[in-house]
Amino acid sequence: MQEFDVVIIGAGAAGLMCAATAGYRGRRVLVLDHANKAGKKILMSGGGRCNFTNLNSTPANFLSANPSFCISALKRYTPQHFLDLVERHAIDWCEKAPGQLFCTDSSKQIVQMLLTECEWSGAVVRLDTSIAEVSRTDTGFVLRTSSGPVQCESLVVASGGLSIPTMGASPFGYQLAQQFGLRVLPTRAGLVPFTLQPVDKAWLAPLSGVSLEVRVETAGRRFDEPMLVTHRGLSGPAMLQRSSFWQSGEVVEVDLLPKEPAPAESLRGLRSQSPRQTVKQWLCQRWPRRFAEAFCEHYQWEAPLQHYSNESLGQVEALLKRWQIKPAGTEGYRTAEVTLGGVDTDQLLSKSLMAKEVDGLYFIGEVVDVTGELGGHNFQWAWASGWCAGQYV
Ligand code: FDA
Repeated sequence: MQEFDVVIIGAGAAGLMCAATAGYRGRRVLVLDHANKAGKKILMSGGGRCNFTNLNSTPANFLSANPSFCISALKRYTPQHFLDLVERHAIDWCEKAPGQLFCTDSSKQIVQMLLTECEWSGAVVRLDTSIAEVSRTDTGFVLRTSSGPVQCESLVVASGGLSIPTMGASPFGYQLAQQFGLRVLPTRAGLVPFTLQPVDKAWLAPLSGVSLEVRVETAGRRFDEPMLVTHRGLSGPAMLQRSSFWQSGEVVEVDLLPKEPAPAESLRGLRSQSPRQTVKQWLCQRWPRRFAEAFCEHYQWEAPLQHYSNESLGQVEALLKRWQIKPAGTEGYRTAEVTLGGVDTDQLLSKSLMAKEVDGLYFIGEVVDVTGELGGHNFQWAWASGWCAGQYV
């Protein structure tokens, strides 16, 4: 029987952060992962450059059945703390969009930094190891693993969510929570592209690759970001953000001209100056030409402006400012960046992330029902929850 003070399941963002933090406290730490590489999602994140935090991260950027739960961890381990760590490791970074910090070179540097921290703190990372069974003892937990039995006082579940199964995602953490009597809230894919109904796909799919700045508003949040048309549906930051709030069957409303407050007024002005101009010509100055042409063909807006009454220009405005599309669904866990739902926070202590009813059992990172918006918030939650649990395990 191998003995450790702390065993952490999952060598991802949260698990590695927790391991180093506990290791520096003098705890004997073992991290187990069934994958052949640590931090696979970190490696693929941010297009290979890892959007590792967001300087403007606040609890308002997170979805959870209990929105206050994340406050404590996010307050104690801030984006600046992680940035200080990145700078101590001399990793160059850049701010691509306001608050969104990326590696200048490669996300490999973040994984290397975390593994170096684990090594310096004495935490052992063991890959290619599967866990067959976890049981509770008088003093802690025993794990039956493919590298032999392991015993520990504290067990940390950092096995992430269900997104991208090919990267090692598994329902292990949810199952373990249920085994110990914790409630798991229904999970669904978040930050994921929408798929389209056949009738919309027919005219939109040929526009694959076109991107335009739009605005979506939902649940009191406003996202001014690009929308990207793909051959399967609608993606880009605006749609990914919207997807986390979307319920099956719901209509998605999009402002396709966020910088144009009153299109009907502009079009009326244009009509009196140049009555032979078309809506399409006007839109071509504001959108990528391909999108403007296909859109006007689809909605049959090809006549010169002189044929449009004020009322029909009002209808044009309504469509442009409140374009409605009913997705067929989403691409699901196959391409989702995150999993919404998960271990119910009501059963965890917000300060330590330990289960209220199971001494020594902790849940951190994405497996918990705390999900960030796009832009580095999810990693910030992984670092913050991992660091906080690392203080107590
Ligand atoms: P994570 O998924 O990182 O780690 C879980 C670990 O547990 C994995 O190593 C897995 O192999 C292991 N595991 C699972 N089941 C196991 C089992 N049964 N036994 C043993 N080990 C097991 N976020 C962000 O803030 N900025 C960004 O730029 C991006 N970009 C991005 C791109 C893509 C394509 C994806 C899919 C996701 C992102 N994210 C992101 C989200 C971010 O990657 C995610 O929120 C964090 O990685 C979550 O960290 P965790 O440590 O909780 O899980």
